[in-house]
Amino acid sequence: MSTEKVVVSNYQEMAARAAEIVLQRMQEKPKLVLGLATGSTPLGLYERLVESYKMGKTDFSQVTTFNLDEYCGLAKNHPQSYRYFMDKYLFSGVNIDYRRVHFPSEVEDGDEYEQKIMEAGGIDLQILGIGRNGHIGFNEPGSDFKSRTRVVDLTEMTIKDNARFFTQPAEVPRQAVTMGLATIMDAKEILLLVSGSGKAAVMERLMMKKPSVDVPASVLHSHTKTTIIVDKKADGGQRDLPSSL
Ligand code: F6R
Repeated sequence: MSTEKVVVSNYQEMAARAAEIVLQRMQEKPKLVLGLATGSTPLGLYERLVESYKMGKTDFSQVTTFNLDEYCGLAKNHPQSYRYFMDKYLFSGVNIDYRRVHFPSEVEDGDEYEQKIMEAGGIDLQILGIGRNGHIGFNEPGSDFKSRTRVVDLTEMTIKDNARFFTQPAEVPRQAVTMGLATIMDAKEILLLVSGSGKAAVMERLMMKKPSVDVPASVLHSHTKTTIIVDKKADGGQRDLPSSL
């Protein structure tokens, strides 16, 4: 396995390092297939990708994207939908071809999403954030490592964490459709971004644990090419990956 942990000083540096990697991969392969995450963590990365495009350094016209997840029951143009988020923070700022933009909520079922990923040649680079409970995508603790794209119930912690984006907690959807852990693991390369003291506890659990369904992100320890870019606040000065992993 080759999971590399890169500790950077702060959020901005994390975003800059992530952008460097994504832009380099796009240069190597203009038809790159990108797996994308929403949430606050990748915002700085997306900002830098838009910046690079606006400076004429990057071309998204042949890039294909697959988003990790989406709430169930929110319209595409709902301000809290992940589709809306991606339009706002990335797609509207670059020359992406919307025919190559994919969301798991915009297909018949999980199998069709998996099929589309396969037809695109698989995901070259998957961007991930991590939840305080160790989730990636909406794969909550207890999710099967063999899971594929499917509809899931959200945990109370995730509903609570996401409530800040809605006017009332009752408005937070209770279900989402997400790529599964096995879908994520099929990506050729993975970039997990972790920032802020709120993630320090889960980061410590992630680094200490052998793969366990209690911390879904720990499945990444078995991936062949994963880079974890973590800032000092989230790393909490923790040790490196145990060499046995
Ligand atoms: C979002 C997603 C989630 C987030 C995670 C962290 O598409 O898949 O797993 O990455 O909840 O969210 P933030 O970055 O807001 O802390």
